[in-house]
Amino acid sequence: MKRKVAILGATGTVGQRFVQLLANHPFFEITLLAASEASAGKKYADIVHWHLPCEIPEKVKNMEIVSVDSNFDCDYVFSALPSDVAGPVEKRLVERGYTVFSNAASHRMDEDVPLLVPEVNLEHMKLVELQKTPGRLITNPNCSTIGLVMALKPIADLFGIEFVSVVTMQAVSGAGYPGVASLDIIDNVIPYIKNEEDKMCTEPKKILGKFTERGIEFAGFEIVAQCNRVPVQDGHMISAYIETSERVDIDRLIQAIENFAPLKGYKLPTAPEKPLMYLPAKDAPQPRLHRDLGNGMTVSVGRLVKVSDRALRFVALVHNTIRGAAGCAVLNAEVYEALYRTGA
Ligand SMILES: NC(=O)c1ccc[n+]([C@@H]2O[C@H](COP(=O)([O-])OP(=O)(O)OC[C@H]3O[C@@H](n4cnc5c(N)ncnc54)[C@H](OP(=O)(O)O)[C@@H]3O)[C@@H](O)[C@H]2O)c1
Repeated sequence: MKRKVAILGATGTVGQRFVQLLANHPFFEITLLAASEASAGKKYADIVHWHLPCEIPEKVKNMEIVSVDSNFDCDYVFSALPSDVAGPVEKRLVERGYTVFSNAASHRMDEDVPLLVPEVNLEHMKLVELQKTPGRLITNPNCSTIGLVMALKPIADLFGIEFVSVVTMQAVSGAGYPGVASLDIIDNVIPYIKNEEDKMCTEPKKILGKFTERGIEFAGFEIVAQCNRVPVQDGHMISAYIETSERVDIDRLIQAIENFAPLKGYKLPTAPEKPLMYLPAKDAPQPRLHRDLGNGMTVSVGRLVKVSDRALRFVALVHNTIRGAAGCAVLNAEVYEALYRTGA
């Protein structure tokens, strides 16, 4: 039988992706949509400003939106709420026994909360066993961080990482809806995204850290980040320079990227066959051409250059609302299901 799931923030940019990804999911069935008080009581199709290039799924069109404080009849909750709202709402839900998969920043750095990208730090899921609440909370990282850590994982495994310098070019959908005013972003680049650089400098150290019985031992490397908003609809580009502990061998790295398939044995519907893809063309990756690889779940890597014996650079691309948000949360739930609930 399918698990019943609720989507919080179902009318928003990430919420709509959840609706799209969960509408025909083999494990999960959407039973509830929640949004702000202004939307509560209205039919989904009447209130949502739908942006995706597909029809609103028939089964949710007539669902009545409820408030986030309602009693939910569901097994799992997917949260796409703004962080300031998500903090207390998610806390109340886990105290009431719900298992929540969240996109919001509010609890990502809590000591007992997994900040999970399953292909990178699956072992961190064990943190849920330290949680004292009746329900459990699992988060996914910031959208750019997800692309960065996916690309860093084979580098960390092969050569060790000492230092990361990263510059992002982030799509407008990353700011939600209505997001950045058109007059601010058309014909322009904005070299500031509120709180983004802090997240990019802290979250990767938790994700690439080591699980211990006492919690996560953070990775020891330093990161500097400069985040920019660019006039692209979807797809965050990440331009990175990395200093390594050991000598860089680009051929070995390309081979590791091509063979990267840590979830292969799990048979999860949202896991792409290739979570990482190396693109050898000298002008790749590009958002318009490559963001939908692996149904938006593949992070593409190009411009891989050895800078010196212990340094390299690359450009990575991540679909910010799929792999960088809703898709990662759905994959986290599939992994949770495989590890903790199969046969339950
Ligand atoms: N966009 C991305 O690429 C991205 C990537 C990774 C993570 N995230 C994170 O995901 C979350 C959602 O982002 P988004 O881009 O989807 O934002 P968004 O487009 O602004 O959508 C926000 C959603 O939250 C609901 N909401 C707003 N205030 C509320 C309140 N007081 N109580 C209950 N519901 C409320 C809205 O409902 P109404 O329609 O009723 O106002 C809407 O459904 C944020 O935490 C964001 O940081 C976003």
